[in-house]
Amino acid sequence: MLTVVGMGPAGQQWLTPAALAVINSASALVGARRHLAQFPDFEGETFTLGADIPALLDWLAARLDENIVVLASGDPLLFGIGKRLVDHFGIAQVRVIPGISAVQYLCAQAGVDMNELWLTSSHGRQVDFDQLVEQNKVAMVTDRVCGPREIAAGLVARGMGHRWMVIGENLAMDNERIRWLRACDEPGEQYDMNVVVILNER
Ligand SMILES: C[S@@+](CC[C@H](N)C(=O)[O-])C[C@H]1O[C@@H](n2cnc3c(N)ncnc32)[C@H](O)[C@@H]1O
Repeated sequence: MLTVVGMGPAGQQWLTPAALAVINSASALVGARRHLAQFPDFEGETFTLGADIPALLDWLAARLDENIVVLASGDPLLFGIGKRLVDHFGIAQVRVIPGISAVQYLCAQAGVDMNELWLTSSHGRQVDFDQLVEQNKVAMVTDRVCGPREIAAGLVARGMGHRWMVIGENLAMDNERIRWLRACDEPGEQYDMNVVVILNER
C-alpha cells in the first residue's frame, strides 16, 4: 500500500491524528529532509525526496506491496507530490491522507475566508498575472524565482498596486512572520519560504 500523508505547514502539532497513525505503521518513509527529521526514532527504510521524481517513482514501484508512506508538505493534493503519485499509480493504488495546507493555515491566522479563493502556484512554473488580476481573492504558493517582490511587481505593472498582499513566511515555525502590505509598498527582497494571499480589499 502506498500512502501519501499531508504533514501540515510545519511541526507535529499541525499533523492530524490520522496522519500520525499511518506514519507510525509505515515500513518505509519518503520525504523531504525537514519532514523525515520529525521522526528521528523511525527504524524502517527512508528515502529523501529531492528533485529526481522519476527515481522516486521507480523506487516506489518496486515496493508497492510494502507499507510505504510519503510525507508531503501541507496538503498532498494542493500543488504537492500527491497529484504526481495519483497520476502515475492511479487512485486505486494510492491512499491520500489530507493535511492542513500552508494556504489554509495562513488564511486562518489572517482571518481571511477561503470562499471563492483562487489557488495558484509559482513553484517551478510561470505565473499568468493577466489571469491573476481578474480574480478578487488569490492564494499563491511561491518559490525563490517568483515570491512577494515579483508578485508585487506583477500587480503594479497591471495597475493593481492598491491590492493587499498577506505574506506568510515560515508558517507554524518559531520564526513565523505574517505581514499585510499593499503591492505598491514594494516588499523587500529577502523572504524565507512563504505563501501570499492577494486581496482586492482588506
Ligand atoms: C510544493 S509547494 C507545496 C504546498 C503544500 N502542498 C501545501 O498544501 O501547503 C511548496 C510551497 O508551499 C509553501 N509552504 C509550505 N509550507 C510552508 C510554510 N510552513 N510556510 C510558508 N510557506 C509554506 C511555500 O510556498 C513552498 O514553496
